[in-house]
Amino acid sequence: MRYVRSLIIVLPLSVFGLACEGDDPVDCRTDGANCSVREAAVQAGVQVGAAFREVSATDDPKYLPALIANFNSVTHEHAMKWAATQPQYGVFNFDEPDRMIELAEANGMAVRGHTLVWEQATVDATPEYVTAITNPEELRTLMANHIRTVVGHFRGRVDAWDVVNEPLDTLGSEVYQNIFYQLMGPGYIAEAFELAHEADPDATLFLNEALVSDDGDKFDALLALTADLLVQGVPIHGVGLQGHFLTEAPNHDELLANLQKLAALGVVVELTEVDIIVRGPGDDAARLERQRQEFFDMASACLAVEACKRITFWGFTDRHTWIDSFFGPDLAPLPLDENYERKPAYFGLRDGLLSGP
Ligand code: G3I
Repeated sequence: MRYVRSLIIVLPLSVFGLACEGDDPVDCRTDGANCSVREAAVQAGVQVGAAFREVSATDDPKYLPALIANFNSVTHEHAMKWAATQPQYGVFNFDEPDRMIELAEANGMAVRGHTLVWEQATVDATPEYVTAITNPEELRTLMANHIRTVVGHFRGRVDAWDVVNEPLDTLGSEVYQNIFYQLMGPGYIAEAFELAHEADPDATLFLNEALVSDDGDKFDALLALTADLLVQGVPIHGVGLQGHFLTEAPNHDELLANLQKLAALGVVVELTEVDIIVRGPGDDAARLERQRQEFFDMASACLAVEACKRITFWGFTDRHTWIDSFFGPDLAPLPLDENYERKPAYFGLRDGLLSGP
């Protein structure tokens, strides 16, 4: 793609105001430092990431410079899901993720792979040739080949994988009975992790779940599932809490407690798909100020837990967010506004990143 080649060759990090080798690192805590959230994350010893869309990078010239200036990790929003990487049986397509990885490597960004196994009736992340299977051994063989091929292709270039996404009922606490569960039993989760670990022993392997940021039965079920997998000796290294705050604000204390409980199991934890919509009464200034506080509450909870190593946003500018098409416009869930300007939420995030010890 035009954009990737030009950016990789022409624009070093310094163009985006990022410290280059030899520059004295800025202390983001000093008055007037005016650090980017990427610089604040580096100082805090964590990664801050964003979901990536190639179509936005191609169509919007402001997209890539803002992404690179502010984030040191990327996750492709859809092109590393089964429906994109193996759209037909035996036909693999890695072109778009490969271009994103080239961009990431040229700009000092880590890559999170999302996701190897995710099947829910309401989502088109898994093709019909998979969900139509009725024979358990056929599905077991297909899943093994998918994971080995995909993880093998990206081996050494993707530092973390969401191996299984959303294994629990969306609004419940039981294991969701997707096609893998129905034919292979709950053991499909362990099998997926074993296959991913065999294909890339150096990748950090995550279980990733939605709506588990607050205290409640669903989080308890995720904690129990994680503990059970660990007891079985399954190579699960991390747990991702997605952080789509669409119906309520982050509860700092409950999020902190959940992160601590998972960390106590010995896994790393990440906030993997954060967007926090503007909410509540008052004029826009009041709503944006409330959102600033909510970004701070979310980020400071992560930074209070040693094992919390990365916060990834699901997009990074209000101009390009899945929420527009799924929940409606003007919910403004991200740290940069439609014109890529820093919102109060950006500063809440930066302060949260710098709130750690
Ligand atoms: O790429 C095709 C395009 O070729 C086609 O013309 C178009 C027609 O509708 O569809 C395009 O694929 C869409 C894809 O996004 C890329 O835009 C899919 O239909 C659409 O379902 C898909 O939605 C994504 C959704 O996951 C399902 O994969 C959203 O963008 C993405 O934000 C959302 O992200 C999920 C995480 O993966 C898991 N956690 C929840 C989160 C929000 O639902």
